[in-house]
Amino acid sequence: MKQKIFIKTFGCQMNEYDSNRIYDSVKKIGYEKTQNYEEASCYLLNTCHIRDKAKEKVYHEIGRVKKIFRSKKKPLVIIAGCVAQAENQEMLKREPYIDLVIGPQAYHKINDTILNHIKKNKKTEETEFDAISKFEYFNKIKNNSGNISSFLTIQEGCNKFCHFCVVPYTRGPEYSRPFKQILDEAKYLVDSGSQEIILLGQNVNAYNNEKYRLSDLILEIEKFSEIKRIRYTTSHPKDMSNDLIEVYKSSKKLMPLVHLPVQSGSNKVLGLMNRKHTISDYYKIYDELREINSNIKFSSDFIIGYPGEEEEDFKATLELIKKIKFINSYSFIFSPRPGTVAADLNLIDKKISMERLEQIQSQLYDNQMLMNQSLENKTINVLVENLTEDKTQVFGRSEYMTSVIFNGKKEDVGKIVPVKIIKSNRSSLFGERVFRANQKVA
Ligand code: SAM
Ligand code: SF4
Ligand code: F3S
Repeated sequence: MKQKIFIKTFGCQMNEYDSNRIYDSVKKIGYEKTQNYEEASCYLLNTCHIRDKAKEKVYHEIGRVKKIFRSKKKPLVIIAGCVAQAENQEMLKREPYIDLVIGPQAYHKINDTILNHIKKNKKTEETEFDAISKFEYFNKIKNNSGNISSFLTIQEGCNKFCHFCVVPYTRGPEYSRPFKQILDEAKYLVDSGSQEIILLGQNVNAYNNEKYRLSDLILEIEKFSEIKRIRYTTSHPKDMSNDLIEVYKSSKKLMPLVHLPVQSGSNKVLGLMNRKHTISDYYKIYDELREINSNIKFSSDFIIGYPGEEEEDFKATLELIKKIKFINSYSFIFSPRPGTVAADLNLIDKKISMERLEQIQSQLYDNQMLMNQSLENKTINVLVENLTEDKTQVFGRSEYMTSVIFNGKKEDVGKIVPVKIIKSNRSSLFGERVFRANQKVA
C-alpha cells in the first residue's frame, strides 16, 4: 500500500512551488498526496517566517496534529520552510513530536532524510544553504504541475538586507538557476499542459546567470507556442533594469500587471528601511513603463507603522497610492523579526498603526473596486483555469490576475476566451462568455 503525505503550506508563492517540488520528490519513495489528515503517515508543514508569531503558529499546528493522531499511529512529522531554517535544531528540542527539520535550500535531501529516519529512527535537521545541489537534483525530476498556470522558480535568496526582513537569513544569498535548466523545466510544464508561467524569485528581477537576465528568459519562454501568458514576481525597484523595461515593447506574452513592492511613499522611511531606492526612482519606472504601454498597472506591498514613520511619511504613502492607483496590493503593519536590524527599534503606537493601516487599505480597496467596476459591460480576455467547485461555471483570470467567474464549459479550460463582464466586487469579476467573432476586447 502507498504511504500518504499531507502537505500544508503557508507563505509566499515560492513556498507553494517548493511544496509541489517536494511532492514530486517524495513520490519517488512511494508517497501519495492526501487532503485528509487522518489517513496520512507523513505530515509536512511548509512554514513562513515573514511576520509575527510565525513560530507559535507552527507549534499550534503541531498541537492540532497531535490531537488528530491521539489514538492513531504517530505520523512522521516534518517541518520545512523559513521557520525551519530560522529555528533549526531548537524545534527538535522544543517539540519532540517533530521528527525532521529541513530548510528551503536543503530539499534535495528530503528523500534520504525520510528513508534514514524510517531505518534508524533518527531525528535530523538539514539547514545548509546549497541552492546549486538543490536545483541540480530537482532538474532530474520532472515538474509535472499539470496546472494551467504554473509557478517556476528561477532565482532564490536575497542580498539586499532590508532592515525589516528575514528573507536573506531564511533563504540565503541570491542564486540564479542556469538558463538552460529553467528552459528544461518550462518544457516539462508545457508538456504537462501549462499555458501560463509565473516566474518566481525573492528578487526575481535580480536574475543574473552568465549573460542572461530576466528579459532573456521571458523572450525565450514565449517561444513555446503553447504558452499564452508570462508573469514574474516578486521584483525590486532597484533591479528594474532597462532591458526589463524594454521587454514590455517586444514581448507578446508578458502581462501588463507589474507587482513592484514599494513599502512606503516616504524617502525618509525608505532610507530607514534600507530599501536602496527612492520614490523618484519608483515614479521613473512607472512613467517609463506607462509610456511603453498605457494599459500597464501596478500592484505593490506596503509596510505601515515602520519605526520612525511620522504622520507626514504616512501621508506620502497615501499620496503615492492615489497617484499610481495600485491594484491588488498587500499591506501589513510592521512586525519586528528576530535577528533583523529593525528587531529592536522603538515601535510606534499600535493604535496609530492600526488607524493608518485602515486608511491605506480603504484607499487600496477603492482603487481595486474602481478598476473592477471600469470593466463592467466590457469584454475582456480570460485564461480559463478550472471548473468552479460546484462545477456549474468556470474560473479564470484576467490579464491583471483578477478572478473571473462565468458560464463557460469544461472545454474552455486552458483556452483564452472573451468574456463580457456583467458585475464585479473588490476581488472578482462575473461575466458571460461571448461567442461573436471579432468581438472588441478591452
Ligand atoms: N523581495 C520583495 C521586495 O523586496 O519587495 C519582497 C519579498 S517579502 C517575502 C514580501 C513582503 O513581505 C514584503 O514586500 C514586505 O511588504 C512584507 N514584509 C517583509 N518583512 C516584513 C515585516 N517585518 N513586517 C511586515 N511586513 C513585512
Ligand atoms: Fe526582503 Fe528586502 Fe530582500 Fe525583498 S529585497 S526579500 S524585502 S530583504
Ligand atoms: Fe515567508 Fe519565506 Fe516566503 S518567510 S514569504 S515563505 S520566503
